[in-house]
Amino acid sequence: MVRSCLLLPWILPNLARGSQTLEWLFDMGGGQQVFPLMDFVASESQEIDAFLEQQRQRLVMPGSSLTQIHDEAAHVRHQSAAANEVALADWLLQIHWSSLLDSDLGRGILAELSAVTPQIESSPCDAASYDVDDVFLERLERSLQGIETLPLEQNEFKWADFFGRKITQQPLCLVGVATLFLVAADITAFASAAEGGEHQMRLERALLFAQSLVRQHVEEAPPGQIDRHRRDLFRSRWPIWRLMRSIQKELDAGHEFRAPQNAALDTPQQETEDLLYLTVIVQCRNDDYGGNMLLRLNRMLATTTRMLHTTQVPSEIIVVEWNPVFNAAAIHEEIQREAGAESVPIRVIQVPTSVHMSMPHHKAHPIFEHTAENVAFRRARGKFILKTNIDNILSPDTILFIARQQLDPNVVYRATYMEYDVTCPEAEGLKADELVEWLFSREEMISGMNMEMADLRLKYPEDALVCTEGRFVPDAPQRPFYWAGSGDFVLASKQKIMEVRGYPEVAQNWQTDDMIHCRLRAAGVRQVVLQPPCVTVHQNHRRINRVRASTRWVITDKNFQEVCENPFKPLKTEIGLDGNWGFADRTFEEHVAPRPPLPTSALGALLRARHVRQLQTSHILRWKIRWKLSPRKTLLKPKAEALRHKARQLLHGFITQDFTANGLFTSSEKSEDWKTGHSLLPRGFNQIKVKGFAPQILAKTRAFVGEWSKFEAGELVEDVNEWLTAMTADAVVSCSMGMDMCNVERLGSKQAPHKFVETFRFGLGVSIGSITAQSEYGLKRFLPFFDAEGQLQEKYQASKKEMQRQVEVLVEATRRGELGDNSIIATMLNDTSADGKRVRYSALYGHVVNLMIAGHETTAATLGFTLQLLAEHPVYEERALEEVRQVLQGRTEPAVDDVPKLQFVEQCFREALRLYSPVTSITRDVAHDTLLGGHRVYQGERINLVTRALHTNPEYWGGEFGDPMSFNPDRFSPEAVRQRHPNAYHPWGFASRACIGSQFALFEAKTFLASILIHFRLQGIPGYRLVASCEGGGAAPSAEKLAFRVFPRPGGPLWADGLMLPLALPVAEAKESMEEDRASISTVSS
Ligand code: HEM
Repeated sequence: MVRSCLLLPWILPNLARGSQTLEWLFDMGGGQQVFPLMDFVASESQEIDAFLEQQRQRLVMPGSSLTQIHDEAAHVRHQSAAANEVALADWLLQIHWSSLLDSDLGRGILAELSAVTPQIESSPCDAASYDVDDVFLERLERSLQGIETLPLEQNEFKWADFFGRKITQQPLCLVGVATLFLVAADITAFASAAEGGEHQMRLERALLFAQSLVRQHVEEAPPGQIDRHRRDLFRSRWPIWRLMRSIQKELDAGHEFRAPQNAALDTPQQETEDLLYLTVIVQCRNDDYGGNMLLRLNRMLATTTRMLHTTQVPSEIIVVEWNPVFNAAAIHEEIQREAGAESVPIRVIQVPTSVHMSMPHHKAHPIFEHTAENVAFRRARGKFILKTNIDNILSPDTILFIARQQLDPNVVYRATYMEYDVTCPEAEGLKADELVEWLFSREEMISGMNMEMADLRLKYPEDALVCTEGRFVPDAPQRPFYWAGSGDFVLASKQKIMEVRGYPEVAQNWQTDDMIHCRLRAAGVRQVVLQPPCVTVHQNHRRINRVRASTRWVITDKNFQEVCENPFKPLKTEIGLDGNWGFADRTFEEHVAPRPPLPTSALGALLRARHVRQLQTSHILRWKIRWKLSPRKTLLKPKAEALRHKARQLLHGFITQDFTANGLFTSSEKSEDWKTGHSLLPRGFNQIKVKGFAPQILAKTRAFVGEWSKFEAGELVEDVNEWLTAMTADAVVSCSMGMDMCNVERLGSKQAPHKFVETFRFGLGVSIGSITAQSEYGLKRFLPFFDAEGQLQEKYQASKKEMQRQVEVLVEATRRGELGDNSIIATMLNDTSADGKRVRYSALYGHVVNLMIAGHETTAATLGFTLQLLAEHPVYEERALEEVRQVLQGRTEPAVDDVPKLQFVEQCFREALRLYSPVTSITRDVAHDTLLGGHRVYQGERINLVTRALHTNPEYWGGEFGDPMSFNPDRFSPEAVRQRHPNAYHPWGFASRACIGSQFALFEAKTFLASILIHFRLQGIPGYRLVASCEGGGAAPSAEKLAFRVFPRPGGPLWADGLMLPLALPVAEAKESMEEDRASISTVSS
């Protein structure tokens, strides 16, 4: 007490001189509302220097007084006696504050002072306090506690706020204004510790300003209030000493920026799997920066997702929310999704404050945005990344350009950037589509774009046509950087972005947006400047002169050129050059913005989709998808991938494996039997092997022609499907099991089908539910004591046993060499799979039954459709016949080498197969989350690919060949097939579970059709409507009630002046050989 009183006589006259620091500062601010205090502190202006020198002159170095000050501070902390506070304030107002930071004792004083609990209510400064001050102070407190960062601009905004109060002559707390300088000093202290020199100077100047303001506060105290004002140093809510302590801590920590190693481009980057084509990345935080922030964000998201969805780009958007604003709603809660864009997920990744706080340069206004973007780069699932801005609305042409999916991985695409005021009444409430339409028809914008285009064409002539025509010159010279809004549109391959480690994570953002381009260029990436109409429109908003703390080690306009010449030389304060850039190891909270509400049913959604609009109700389903509405973490796979890596567990759930056993068609590909069978069986059906089956196939065709030649010319054949099924069943069993069942001949002589077929049909019928107690026993099933179900089961078990017995007989006959040695059974008995395994004996039955299931109704049904369609289209029938005549050169049936030449006949069959695929849907369990036809499907879901819908999708099947629903075999000309999307036609299934019998079916069908065409003219029934149905029984839909009037082909082998000549000889031959077969397997048919 005594000690401080001794000083008072010296202080008072000095204080009396008055400094008017506040007025001087506002004058110097030039009336600017926002002006960067740190820059101000660093300014080399003579006026500022002179002013500060004047302040400095008034201070003393404490020297030995430090011990006394420390004692006083301890008193204040422990006793809070008013007299101690006044005395201590006197000390503190006359010594250099920066000297406190230099010694242990000085730092001890700060420690004492920052522990003082301010008695806020008693501060006269409170009279000048407003609610907004409370908010600022709370943030400042949280920042000091490391909970929330205090962006430098908040400090500057506060300055603007004080400025406003000064102008309107409201009371102002000078201690509060002093606090702003202390915040600036805090940040500078960080830089000072790292760099020394210049920053040390800044630190001292900031402290001088702060101290000077506090002095003014005391000087201006009304008479009798001086002590109260002195005590405000400790009693005001403005945390002066806590800030001083923070400054001291920064200096103590002596932050040395990690000296980064020169980033080497060749560091192997972890291979990432590209799951989508595009990831769009934007960063933001819910701080309403620039006004209407959420509106701008939502407009950007709605328009982008809508266009990506419509153009079916497999894509996602990542909104990376950095340093989330305390107490503000999380961004994912603020995203409003519009319907019609559901295939594009919006992921919101949150980079918490703690991550930013963990960065060494967090106080020096770090580039949180770039850190966040790096986090997103790391987690992007697209092959390409478009880093854009929440303000940007992409032009439709930009999306169309991307949708071509022809981006070059060695190019970075930049786009023209236009400003436009979108926040106007006209644009209010517009939906995404309407907004895009409205925006890109603004005349003033179009003329701006035209001017821009002219300019860019001059500067980047090679890139002129990239947007519109995709043409780009790979060896074009590297042109100068494209500057405007450079950070707003960076479109490059993820691989390249990974190679250059994303954005430089440095403390300042002056031109760091451009640094990524320097690095990409150094990595050998070519810059392509997209030109209008590929543009981004920047939604104009309130401009905030973002504060740039101009520490000297940032990239500025001046040094950019130099830095860019050596872009991998680590930048001062740069982090993230190691393999862990973008916080690779960390897990971030992620939310998927709830998808827009779906229309009432998935069907409704599909109906509305563009590609199905023109189809009739019966064909509406392009993809029948089970929807899951819950958002969940997703692993995305592009369509083709998902199709290739299918995991089919219980395929064909409708066929009980009880009857079919573990055969190829009906078993899981995880089963050992499937694996062995899959390795072996296809060998039996390859093109060469199939040719070996030609005699059997021809024999069955000949038998068919023979039987039909027995009809009168013009006779009505009503059960065409039965005939066809008999023929294909005979053929497949003959080739795969070496037994001719003679079902064609049996049908001709009105006998019951072969027992094998009968047993097969009954067993299959019960297992798929087409034969039931009701169908089998009718009303009898209600008789007392008649156990219909039990009876049916018994019969079913007996038929199964019988089937097994028959197959066993065939197998044994084959083993003994009594049956065909080129049969599939022979292949299964004799061959081993790729891993040396043989088909299990007990699995033989399953495979045989499966071949029967898969291999006869399908071909028969398609043949029926083909015959009817040809009958309906005489022009094509004529062309097919002409081809057959040319190939056969006067012969009456095709030889094995003729079959491949029957190109047009094959086209007719394939076209019928397109329109009436007997396998109406193909079931797959989704192996990875993916997009199908623009819809999301999730791993583990079962999807049905509706073949008819796929095969009639106008996107692939319309155009020059007319209505997709029409029969036009020219769709399958080699040229047309080449130009079509390979996934547009899947009648045989696809990938590992594709049909193994397609070559067999084609060979058989062509042989048969050629023979029929040359022998008969089939006349369709007038008014007959071709409908695919299962009414006639069987698992594959066939042409309902198919019937023909059969005529001999005029001038053909059976033609006798309009009458039908029976085909005598060949049939007899065939019968002979069949008799032989029958004898050898008499046990089977008995
Ligand atoms: C026009 C005639 C045919 C059509 C349209 C057809 C269609 C198909 C389709 C779509 C699949 C895949 C089913 C799925 O993945 O869910 C399939 C599988 C199969 N097909 Fe065919 N098929 C025909 C003829 C044949 C013939 C003649 C044979 C045998 C001689 C045969 C044997 C098989 C077998 C064994 C499988 C199961 C392959 C596996 O799952 O590993 N198919 N077929």
